[in-house]
Amino acid sequence: MSKLSGKVAVVTGGAGGIGRASVLALAAEGAAIGVVDRNLPGAEVVAAAAAKLGVKSLAVACDVGDEAGVAEAFGKVVAGLGEIDILFNNAGIDTISAVADMKAAMWDEMMRVNLRSIFLCTREVLPAMQRRKWGRIINTASQLAHKGAPRMAHYAAAKAGVIGFTRSLAYEVARDGITVNAICPGPINTPLLKDIPQDWRDQKLTELPIGRFGEPEEVAPTVVLLASDAGSYYIGATLNMNGGDYMI
Ligand SMILES: NC(=O)c1ccc[n+]([C@@H]2O[C@H](COP(=O)([O-])OP(=O)(O)OC[C@H]3O[C@@H](n4cnc5c(N)ncnc54)[C@H](O)[C@@H]3O)[C@@H](O)[C@H]2O)c1
Repeated sequence: MSKLSGKVAVVTGGAGGIGRASVLALAAEGAAIGVVDRNLPGAEVVAAAAAKLGVKSLAVACDVGDEAGVAEAFGKVVAGLGEIDILFNNAGIDTISAVADMKAAMWDEMMRVNLRSIFLCTREVLPAMQRRKWGRIINTASQLAHKGAPRMAHYAAAKAGVIGFTRSLAYEVARDGITVNAICPGPINTPLLKDIPQDWRDQKLTELPIGRFGEPEEVAPTVVLLASDAGSYYIGATLNMNGGDYMI
């Protein structure tokens, strides 16, 4: 029997790099998967790949920063697959600006997509998890929450918020059989990283102890660990897969 058979998982941003790899890793362990993304065609491709692994899957279009849209999308997943056991809050964006030049709209959009979304999606799944006394919530933060980075103050602030949210919620629900944890990837080869300026990426390659960027498949096994019974003693933790870029 696979580790996650009988479980229903939702991966937000499941059409993207880390999300896609995690959908496939969770599906390989037998979880039914809701792929929630604002990119519906991309989500459909990933959901179809998950179905080929022998699990039920569903692609749902959703802007995870939109309250009504999140409620509707999660309702569709529950209707199609059943109550949600595992939530991987992974959708995110990246933009670049020095603070002195940053428009408030850029700051607000970062907080909406990378932080508010985590609250909105989590709130949708908590009541059923509490009723059923089992749940797994995994939030994608970033190593930049710890170390910061020039031109990414808004991103680092949102991701630090994700860690604060993770720890606080972990206290609230640990005795309900629900674990809440965060992952803090370093630079991972995905479309998101490709949007970062070349000078930043060149510099990062010289700094990284491992000498290369990570691959999404090097993040997904940690998501599976935190999603499974084997992850039962991780509470409010932040797990850092970062090629040694920030050792904590
Ligand atoms: N790639 C890295 O180096 C890196 C490092 C640390 C943390 N992260 C985090 O990992 C997560 C996944 O990033 P990735 O690198 O796979 O990027 P990606 O761009 O490949 O994937 C992000 C996915 O999120 C979706 N998305 C974006 N905004 C959305 C919205 N409002 N509603 C619904 N879906 C939305 C996109 O459509 C995309 O499918 C993000 O939270 C990111 O901040 C990435």
